[in-house]
Amino acid sequence: MTTKLGDRLLVWVEVTQSCQLKCRYCYNPWRKEPAGSHSEMSDQTAESLLDFCNDLSAKFELEFAVAGGDPTAHPDYISLSSKLAALGPTAIVTHGCAFGDSDLEQIAETGTLRLQFSIPSLNAEQFKFVTGGGRLDSLLSNLAKASSLGIPLSMSAVVSQSKKAQEDAEALIRLANMAGAERLIFNKFLPTGRGSLYEEKFSLSDTSFKDLIRTATRNVDCSQVEVFVSEEHAGVRQLKIQQPKITITFDGQVRSCSMATAQIGTTRSEARLVMKRYEQFWSSEETDDGCLCSKTSAYIKNVPTADTHAA
Ligand SMILES: C[S@@+](CC[C@H](N)C(=O)[O-])C[C@H]1O[C@@H](n2cnc3c(N)ncnc32)[C@H](O)[C@@H]1O
Ligand code: SF4
Repeated sequence: MTTKLGDRLLVWVEVTQSCQLKCRYCYNPWRKEPAGSHSEMSDQTAESLLDFCNDLSAKFELEFAVAGGDPTAHPDYISLSSKLAALGPTAIVTHGCAFGDSDLEQIAETGTLRLQFSIPSLNAEQFKFVTGGGRLDSLLSNLAKASSLGIPLSMSAVVSQSKKAQEDAEALIRLANMAGAERLIFNKFLPTGRGSLYEEKFSLSDTSFKDLIRTATRNVDCSQVEVFVSEEHAGVRQLKIQQPKITITFDGQVRSCSMATAQIGTTRSEARLVMKRYEQFWSSEETDDGCLCSKTSAYIKNVPTADTHAA
């Protein structure tokens, strides 16, 4: 089945609300609540999820992002991710600081899973501050190990207001080159969820964001890594605009990001079919669109090429 946008569908799976970090910028609203109130996907929901995605795979070319919270806080995230990978390319989206002892070896052994490391800063102090105590050295040694194990990698960074932002963006491009990352995504800080508490401190204007990335991509060689930016308050659902996308929460609700809906909605019967199927499958309860970028005119596109820079 081919829609105007092709037949690709990104399924963003929030396997758990838990996370070992407490990033000040985190868009997840539940990160404002005490950790004890966080829940994770049950075996039963995971089974339903696989059945649901199996059905979807008859109609769509699926891709998966396994996120949360942090997927590494879920005890079975590797096994669940590798089952999803049988249905389509699957990336584990993580802060990368808390892999179990043999997790990276297991991920490498699957031969199918990819990793996306989210790195808000390469300055140890700034990293510790924005992640609420995270250790940059743990992340970097895991990134190096993943790279040496040959796991396909990508990286993303939330860009927020900071004296180090320009320096950081350039250092991230260098790191992405060194680690052999296939893509690097710069997400403009979105002041929502827990991040809303830091709106004043972290927010930066669209112009500052664009200028910063433009300067970084001019100053540092980007020939080895594909650099993407999210603009206009976008960014929380990285690949959303390139393809239709649904989000599946830890408790099995299926949500449609408004942008994804708009995209899928270009062929309305597809949208209705997806929504009808998920409503029938999961529950008859109405759900709010939990997508936090729903009020934005978000889109993602390639960073301007060298030609554009010259203009
Ligand atoms: C909520 S996290 C969940 C997965 C994992 N814990 C992580 O941090 O990668 C998903 C993505 O959203 C990004 N993100 C979180 N808060 C954001 C915000 N306020 N604005 C833009 N992107 C944000 C993270 O950097 C990460 O790439
Ligand atoms: S952005 Fe990711 S790592 Fe940071 S608190 Fe949120 S879920 Fe955890």
